[in-house]
Amino acid sequence: MNKQEIKSIKDEIEKIFNQELSMSKLNDLKVEYLGKNGKITELSKMMKDVSAEDKKEYGLLLNELRNEFNTLFEEYKNKLEESLLSEKLQQEKIDISLPGIQVPVGAPNILEHVIEEIEELFMSMGYDVVDGPEIEEDKYNFELLNIPKGHPARDAQDTFYIEDENILLRSQTSPVQVRTMLKGKGEVPIRMICPGKTYRRDDDDATHSHQFMQIEGLLVDKNISLCDLKGTFDTVAKKLFGPDCETRFRPSYYQFTEPSVETDISCFNCHGKGCSICKNTGWITVSGAGMVHPNVLRNCGYDPKVWSGFAFGFGAERLAMLKYGINDIRTFYMTDLREAKVFDRKESE
Ligand code: DAH
Repeated sequence: MNKQEIKSIKDEIEKIFNQELSMSKLNDLKVEYLGKNGKITELSKMMKDVSAEDKKEYGLLLNELRNEFNTLFEEYKNKLEESLLSEKLQQEKIDISLPGIQVPVGAPNILEHVIEEIEELFMSMGYDVVDGPEIEEDKYNFELLNIPKGHPARDAQDTFYIEDENILLRSQTSPVQVRTMLKGKGEVPIRMICPGKTYRRDDDDATHSHQFMQIEGLLVDKNISLCDLKGTFDTVAKKLFGPDCETRFRPSYYQFTEPSVETDISCFNCHGKGCSICKNTGWITVSGAGMVHPNVLRNCGYDPKVWSGFAFGFGAERLAMLKYGINDIRTFYMTDLREAKVFDRKESE
């Protein structure tokens, strides 16, 4: 080893650290100079052969060389890390003035609003909200509801049969009355509503749909009369259509109620003067209802001498169409998000 060798490594190092280096190249340099067989390490190994009088001087020179390498190395490393960081920050820079990306959000179907409103109202009056199968047996959809096979009342409900004439897509939600009473085992009072899908072989047009929603209601207890039905219906009508809404019953006929009624509300549009919505009558029919027929009570295990009850069936689409001024039932099934959003907004105003 001589001084020239140390000097030339010193020059070499200075030259290298003046060039552009990557982080991995930098790490390689450390190995190349200070590693186990690195250039500076090799020089240090030669110290043992240096004469005693030169040892001090060479030792100092080698120390200086090592220190210089370390200083240059650290400086370069810090500089490189800083510039990598600022490059990264630059890449991740957010321009907060850019318009955001709109995430598409859904909105509940308009029918949902009406159904939820009705559910909440009935729940506040102590009713349960129950469910029933959409694929139903003939006995629940018809027979136990006092509509035996071959009865002309069946014709009004053009039914979808599945496989044979005993299994069908329910044509009304009334079978859930039967199921609920059978569960009650003739012993407990019943207060339930059942919103659900129903099916009939109708051609779809502005006022007909082969699939539609009904909201069935049933109350069975002791000493229930038509007055209870009237009071309940009046409460629902006022909640849905405002406190000025008046109600009336008209005699009607259903196989499973006796007496049966059609329930009307006063026209919220013309307030009785006559308009196209109420077909100039001042009244709008919104449901069928009546006192549960003694045969139905008996069929379902409730003794008509002890128990009495009322039942009703609203068409959910009809209620929603009236409430929101919709004139085509298909609106509910076309799942047009724009439409749903307009009504969703109206609802939350
Ligand atoms: N199920 C009847 C229909 O689909 C509606 C109905 C009328 C239900 C009178 C009832 C009721 O519970 O009492 O036309």
